[in-house]
Amino acid sequence: MFTFVNPLVINLKNYDEISGENSLKIAQEAMKVSQLNRKEIIIAPPTSSIMALAEINLPIISQHVDDAALGATTGFTIPEIIKSHGAIGSIINHSEHKIEHARVSNLVIRLRELDMISIVCADDLQEVEALSQFSPDYLAIEPPELIGKGIAVSKANPSIITDSVQVVKRISPMVKVLCGAGIVDKTDVQKALQLGAEGILISSGVVKSGSWYDKILELSSVLK
Ligand code: G3P
Repeated sequence: MFTFVNPLVINLKNYDEISGENSLKIAQEAMKVSQLNRKEIIIAPPTSSIMALAEINLPIISQHVDDAALGATTGFTIPEIIKSHGAIGSIINHSEHKIEHARVSNLVIRLRELDMISIVCADDLQEVEALSQFSPDYLAIEPPELIGKGIAVSKANPSIITDSVQVVKRISPMVKVLCGAGIVDKTDVQKALQLGAEGILISSGVVKSGSWYDKILELSSVLK
């Protein structure tokens, strides 16, 4: 089973900046940083790039996974197939790709049976409470209104992080809490860690930065 200490999870989403070969380029920059500072960096590319990125020496996860069967399930992204393409886990229930909570539960179990990690996203405290009962490997709190805005959750809404940590540790103490939304610099990361987050989920702050290498180095350098 894969375990990560204070990971920096970079979700490439479907931004134009990572189209074509750029998914591979950004992952290669992340790999260079990780080799330099030994920090744990995970990349979540579009599903179509998983196999190409799995060639490099960095953990790759899917941005989404469906609770659909192995077999005749056209167009669905399923755990067994992404694993065969080199993914070591998946984000589940991202605020841009919500699924029913019963499906989240099934997927956490299914990924664990496959020795894959689950990063389950929650929009608010109510969802944190509901989803942490499924004991995913990671619970990521991401207030949707701050996503992509450049105003960090750790500064704009610090109590959502401390409250989430409290709720998660009460319900499932083994679950690690990530936070994301609006994180753009190392002070945002430092603040998130001070508030109890055990890793970061980020997208536009890296993907849309002028230098992928410099930004990933800056953000990861303050992780433990
Ligand atoms: O999955 C990461 C995410 O939704 C946060 O996005 O652009 O605010 O870092 P962003």
